[in-house]
Amino acid sequence: MSWPARELPGGIMPHKDIVIRPAKNIMGAVRLPGDKSISHRYAMLGALAEGTTRLRNFSTGADCASTLGALESLGIAIRRGEQGAVEIEGSPWRAPHAGLDCGNSGSTMRMLSGILAGQPFTSELTGDESLSRRPMARVIEPLTKMGARIESAAGGRPPLRITGHALQAIDYRLPVASAQVKTAILFANLFAHGTTAVEEPMRTRDHGELALQAFGAELARSGNRVTMAGGQKLHAIEAAIPGDISSAAFFLCAAALFPGSNLLLDSVLMNPTRAALLDVLIGMGCRISVVNLEEHYGELVGSVAVEGLELREGTIADALSAALIDELPVLAAIAPYTTGGIEIRDARELRVKESDRIAAVAANLRAMGATVEEHEDGLRVPCNQQLQGAEVDSVGDHRIAMAFAVAALRATGDTLIRGASAAQISYPEFFTMLEKLAER
Ligand code: S3P
Repeated sequence: MSWPARELPGGIMPHKDIVIRPAKNIMGAVRLPGDKSISHRYAMLGALAEGTTRLRNFSTGADCASTLGALESLGIAIRRGEQGAVEIEGSPWRAPHAGLDCGNSGSTMRMLSGILAGQPFTSELTGDESLSRRPMARVIEPLTKMGARIESAAGGRPPLRITGHALQAIDYRLPVASAQVKTAILFANLFAHGTTAVEEPMRTRDHGELALQAFGAELARSGNRVTMAGGQKLHAIEAAIPGDISSAAFFLCAAALFPGSNLLLDSVLMNPTRAALLDVLIGMGCRISVVNLEEHYGELVGSVAVEGLELREGTIADALSAALIDELPVLAAIAPYTTGGIEIRDARELRVKESDRIAAVAANLRAMGATVEEHEDGLRVPCNQQLQGAEVDSVGDHRIAMAFAVAALRATGDTLIRGASAAQISYPEFFTMLEKLAER
């Protein structure tokens, strides 16, 4: 089956579909907008810090715009300039006049909850349909233990109504590995008495810890445990945000699909808690080198050169699944083209992301003609399967839309991606850039 190629929109419109044509190769260089996880954290801490925080290469995604919008509703002055320049005036937060709209962004809702738990007013956090289904008990429980009052819809779902309070430090072991929850607790601790300790069952991204240190807070890390004195004051910073490695992942995997591809990703985040995809792709046969490594406020940044070679098998389980949580959909989407298949386990968290990503990946791979084994906590995708162009559905999830745009590049025939514009949640420029890099 095939569809006529449609012109790519300059600015992607809500709910727009896109047709992806097969490609021969991926060639060229890309510079990515700022990392989403770091953009959220720097914006929130900038809004609390003394002075003006000046950021460059701030994420262009709708999720980080939700964070900036919520901060403005809390009385924070924000100026937006060219090329991701954002200036944030730190000042005391004011009670919002209306609900704070977190859009599709779990990071906004969970991490902001931490700070709102310590403010002397009540605020309400709302989200879109997808966010309204996502579990919030994981932040409600520790923040309530610290002294906040939080009401939610049934089953600990949004909206959240948070009545802030002078908080008490806690010693807390996270039941689920979640960097958002760890960060929410550490941010709440800025308004707590005593010393807070957070222990995670396995290592998750550490941008919360590094951002707090960047803004002048002190904390100690030992294994998977972070300890931090409460009530610390922050000061403003000036920083360029490294390119988003989770967005880069789609191009890395696209290049990996074609022996002979040559791709350069400039100034990408290389934080070891985020860069596991490089090791996995190298293990599967891809040739990757990282040059010009630098460190900015504790975050490693480098340029990545990728050469596609034949892809072998991959197994992702245990701590690696947690480290690769945002990259698993695209890895699964390219799995049919490997010579050994890919198995993903211990990734139950994928079921409670922006969509049930295990179900969405399985349904779309099947729509393209692949055999897939679906498990409660992952997927097994057998090797050497040629995908066919088909109609697939983003189910409104940005990473599903982009993962299947990548899978479609090596399919026979065109693929129609329903709701492709969901990509704007993290990477609005994605389809335009993919068109530039794909040789046909
Ligand atoms: C994020 C943590 C992860 C990740 C999300 C961003 C963060 O979520 O999936 O895209 O910035 O801390 P969890 O904390 O729910 O694992």
